[in-house]
Amino acid sequence: MRTKTITALLVSTFVLQSCFLPTDVLAISFSKIQLPKNAIGPEALAFELGTGQFFTGISDGRILKYQGPTIGFVDFGFVAPNRSKSMCDGMHFANTNQTCGRPVGMALHHQTKMLYVCDAFFGFGVLGPEGGLVTILSTMADGEPYHFCDGVDVHQPTGNVYFTDASAIYDIREFKTAASVNDSTGRLLKYDVEKKQVTVLFRNLSFPGGVAVDEEEEFVLVSEFLGNRIRKIQLRGRKPFESDIINTQPFPDNIRKAGLDEFWIAEARKDGGTQSNLVPVGARIDASGNVIETVHLEECYGNKLVSEVGEFDRKLYIASLFVDFIGVYEH
Ligand SMILES: *[C@@H]1O[C@H](CO)[C@@H](O)[C@H](O)[C@H]1NC(C)=O
Ligand SMILES: *[C@@H]1O[C@H](CO)[C@@H](O)[C@H](O)[C@H]1NC(C)=O
Ligand SMILES: *[C@@H]1O[C@H](CO)[C@@H](O)[C@H](O)[C@H]1NC(C)=O
Ligand SMILES: *[C@@H]1O[C@H](CO)[C@@H](O)[C@H](O)[C@H]1NC(C)=O
Repeated sequence: MRTKTITALLVSTFVLQSCFLPTDVLAISFSKIQLPKNAIGPEALAFELGTGQFFTGISDGRILKYQGPTIGFVDFGFVAPNRSKSMCDGMHFANTNQTCGRPVGMALHHQTKMLYVCDAFFGFGVLGPEGGLVTILSTMADGEPYHFCDGVDVHQPTGNVYFTDASAIYDIREFKTAASVNDSTGRLLKYDVEKKQVTVLFRNLSFPGGVAVDEEEEFVLVSEFLGNRIRKIQLRGRKPFESDIINTQPFPDNIRKAGLDEFWIAEARKDGGTQSNLVPVGARIDASGNVIETVHLEECYGNKLVSEVGEFDRKLYIASLFVDFIGVYEH
């Protein structure tokens, strides 16, 4: 296992203020892409191919698009049909509000440029390249409404979409209660893009926050945020929907493909110094759950959890509900 840490390399006061590493001295660096004024809580990132531009959903219900360093972020879309910019823009994550919506997981189908979105209140939908109001595709499956549509991934060759409903009982505002009762009513779902149909693939997941499908559509990895584990669920073969726990670490959230049959997971580790403190990391695993690389993020995030670590153009981009920037780690 290769473990990289940026912790020991720096004067901590400098880092805490600016979160920048001197790139001329070190081969690695951490920088921030600042969100617009009063925007906070990016949950997931969806990259375009080639351009380096990406989408993210924030606490006040907006979907933003990053259009590069000159333009920065622009408002791209929203999910709540009655969302009022004057009332909602700048709303803090502590006040997550149904009237404003809360887009969390998202993934782009590159061929069609369709952005699939989970909104924690409004369910599963899609947004075209012109942006605007998300078209809701599904709010329930098997007669049970989604309470917390959360993680999304697209199988690029077919356009099929895999997503999660974190809980059948608790919504995003009730996370603490869900944690206190160890909720395990989450579901894995599939949107068949040809049939335009949603099916339930797996039940009784312990707060599935993230999902990733492999290139061949043979399996999906699902993170169980409250179960502290990554589950691999087979889609085909002799025993479809057979599952194995392939990795156990605290609070795994979004999972993103990182090249052929490798995945980045945003999760936590016990802080070496104290038993109880958890610090955020990005972990790159293979399809069997073996950890190939761990990137420690506590220098810039303290003990704030990160919700996504994604790789684009050999850089890591990091999202966290608790900050007002996208972290960029060059490794
Ligand atoms: C939006 O506003 C209309 C008119 O007030 C109301 O009927 C509708 O229920 C609202 N929709 C949502 C999702 O709040
Ligand atoms: C949600 O936001 C709307 C619009 O800003 C506001 O009228 C309403 O009071 C808020 N509700 C809660 C529970 O904060
Ligand atoms: C899921 O849990 C419920 C309630 O605990 C149980 O009745 C059901 O059999 C479980 N389903 C599966 C597929 O394990
Ligand atoms: C929480 O639920 C999961 C099953 O979903 C179980 O494996 C785990 O042991 C439970 N944890 C506690 C503390 O009860």
